[in-house]
Amino acid sequence: MSKRLSETYREYFPIGAAVTPVSIDTHKELLVGHFSSLTAENQMKPGILHPSEHIYNFEQGDVIADFALQNHMLLRGHTLVWHNQTPEWFFKDGGKAASRTLALKRMKEHIYTVMGHYKGRTCAWDVVNEAIADQAEGPALRQAPWLTAVGGDYIEHAFRYAREADSTAKLFYNDYNECDPVKSKKIYELVKSLLERGVPVDGIGMQGHWNIYVPELDKIRRAIELYASLGISLQITELDISLFRFDDGTAYEKAPAELIELQAERYGRIFELLREYKALFTGITFWGIADDDTWLSYFPFRDRKNWPLLFDDQHRQKKSFENITNF
Ligand code: XIL
Repeated sequence: MSKRLSETYREYFPIGAAVTPVSIDTHKELLVGHFSSLTAENQMKPGILHPSEHIYNFEQGDVIADFALQNHMLLRGHTLVWHNQTPEWFFKDGGKAASRTLALKRMKEHIYTVMGHYKGRTCAWDVVNEAIADQAEGPALRQAPWLTAVGGDYIEHAFRYAREADSTAKLFYNDYNECDPVKSKKIYELVKSLLERGVPVDGIGMQGHWNIYVPELDKIRRAIELYASLGISLQITELDISLFRFDDGTAYEKAPAELIELQAERYGRIFELLREYKALFTGITFWGIADDDTWLSYFPFRDRKNWPLLFDDQHRQKKSFENITNF
């Protein structure tokens, strides 16, 4: 009998996957067999849920929430306040820019409605996503519509509204390049100052969009230790291990065996590290299920196929799967 991923990790942490209403159908067997938590890949973002001020579309998100419930899986909410996939109407008032008061009112209404809708079904929410700038120089916060409309305290407002809307969901700050020493320091400082001011942040989501070369294990370890020193919980929220460095546009028709081998080694080492920190991690979520359906096959290079997950294009277990389940 072959191993079941989430069963193998039962004593460690829930194992999740980002899904769509289509993939829960096309990848049902893998999901039910190996995963114990779901995240909507796009369907709970403002762009789909709340396309204009008085219209909410919960249908697609609900398909995912229902599937999670029927299969006794956890559900992570993703995401409420972000610079991407957020319609412009949030920041407009007729022909001009929305005032701070109006933008905050809309943020509050959005958070209350969305979290209210999924209350009791979502164990955690990525309340604020990717608010920190990547550049070493310049302001810590990314130039984002919420920042322009509200000011630097938009993050704190988002977390306070979120706690009011659903006092049981764990509230996460989520970001990428989270193991980069400069950026991780900025993420740490942001969350530290929020906590010092009594803002309800329960955890940091480390997205984990990594590749077979970087970040090095000791960088991952240092970031974990740094974030954990804040006394909050951690999750890897969007794990995938690309076969390419971020700006490398090389393309292959078939995944090169030696890169798949490197990937397997990397997955093995990374999970060894994560198991070491099991007391800190409340979930590890992959950004997708199998290699036939991954955002990395259309980002950052359109139509450049990638193979970043544990199951191959035919949904068979890769060496990476073996390496993280044999311990
Ligand atoms: C990505 C989805 O996977 C894509 O389908 C979509 O086109 C763009 O967004 N960080 C996040 C996720 O927090 O929401 C992003 O998801 C990937 C990067």
